[in-house]
Amino acid sequence: MTVFGVDAVTDAAAAGGTLAVRRGDLVTPLARDLAAELGVDIVASGSPPAAVKGRPVGVGSATAAGPPSPISPPSPALYRRGSPLPSRLLPRSLARTDLAALSSTPPTRVPRIVVVGAGHVGTITAMRLAEADLADEIVLVDIVGGLAEGIALDIGHSAGLLGFSTTLRGEHSVEAAGEAAYTVLTAGRARQPGMSRGDLADTNAAILGPVARSVGATSPNGVILVVTNPLDEMTHHVWKSSGLPSGRVVGMAGMLDAARFSSLAGLTGVARAGQIEGYALGSHGDEMVIPRSQLAANGKALTAQLDPGAIDALITRTRDSGAEIVALLGTGSAFITPGLSAAQMVIRMIRSDDRVVSATVMPAGEYGIDGTYVGLPVRLGRSGLREIVHFELTGAERAAVVAAASRIAERVRSLPVPGP
Ligand code: LAC
Repeated sequence: MTVFGVDAVTDAAAAGGTLAVRRGDLVTPLARDLAAELGVDIVASGSPPAAVKGRPVGVGSATAAGPPSPISPPSPALYRRGSPLPSRLLPRSLARTDLAALSSTPPTRVPRIVVVGAGHVGTITAMRLAEADLADEIVLVDIVGGLAEGIALDIGHSAGLLGFSTTLRGEHSVEAAGEAAYTVLTAGRARQPGMSRGDLADTNAAILGPVARSVGATSPNGVILVVTNPLDEMTHHVWKSSGLPSGRVVGMAGMLDAARFSSLAGLTGVARAGQIEGYALGSHGDEMVIPRSQLAANGKALTAQLDPGAIDALITRTRDSGAEIVALLGTGSAFITPGLSAAQMVIRMIRSDDRVVSATVMPAGEYGIDGTYVGLPVRLGRSGLREIVHFELTGAERAAVVAAASRIAERVRSLPVPGP
């Protein structure tokens, strides 16, 4: 039996586009994916007809004398540690043609991700990141005795069910966690009923300032993803305190708010949530801007499919979703979709994919904004912010984003000044 991997497919692509296999041979799932991408036909040769991973060759397939038959493309493979990426996961400029670049693509894996705060959001974030199996190690950090260690152990046990190879560890300090490629900051107080996100500003700034300084010192080449509220102000505060370049400090909230919008719009029946596109810009709060001009369902403008009143109601409910959950829970705030959104952002950074997402970033003149963090459409990459994406917003939408940025900047000015 021969096992054909991606190298065999790469060679076959260079030699004319056909990979011949025999009965009992195996073609790895990743190799099948790559074959589909590169247009390599996997064909049976020899007699009797070959089977690939239990799949019989198509009807009327080859015999020793007959011509080879193509084998139908397989289902998508899981991407294993260290495997070269299929071209559809590569930047377009590398797709299809550049086989040398394909085989030298760095593995989609990082040595360590640190999640600061082992509360509900930190737990969900770490869980999802562990399942994604993109890091050798995930370290949870919390000052509460035993909490980070306990949660890390518990998530680690799930490897027995889910099969991931990421290991987990709990620590009490960022320094003990060690240098990280990505640090997710979830530490701080959560909202209680009647509190706005802004009410938390001073308390959480005091918690996050020293943490951000430690992260900047421990992981000077890493990326920080801020999740703590008030999100926009805390992202700015962490950037200042960490000393990292602004492109390597990004805030999570637009992704959460956009997910909320899509899920709520999905409930109207216009399309499945996954087919609804929307972006949440501005602030993660009262100045949230969900531009109607960018809403789509099944690839068509949502404004042509739902009446303006229904869209307004969805936007309002999205903006108020955090408070709606705080009121229902009675103590604490949402954590499942916030944690999943944070994990999703780290995954997008590691994979450096082309998806446009909403995130809190520091523009340098884009949308006429400079010097303050604000929610904008972006592409993420291994080093955090890859690019701010230009959307054709209406004048009113653009003005609303600019107004949100000035309100955030005002609130940042009233925060305690970050220490030296
Ligand atoms: C929310 C909090 C986490 O929006 O900001 O649910």
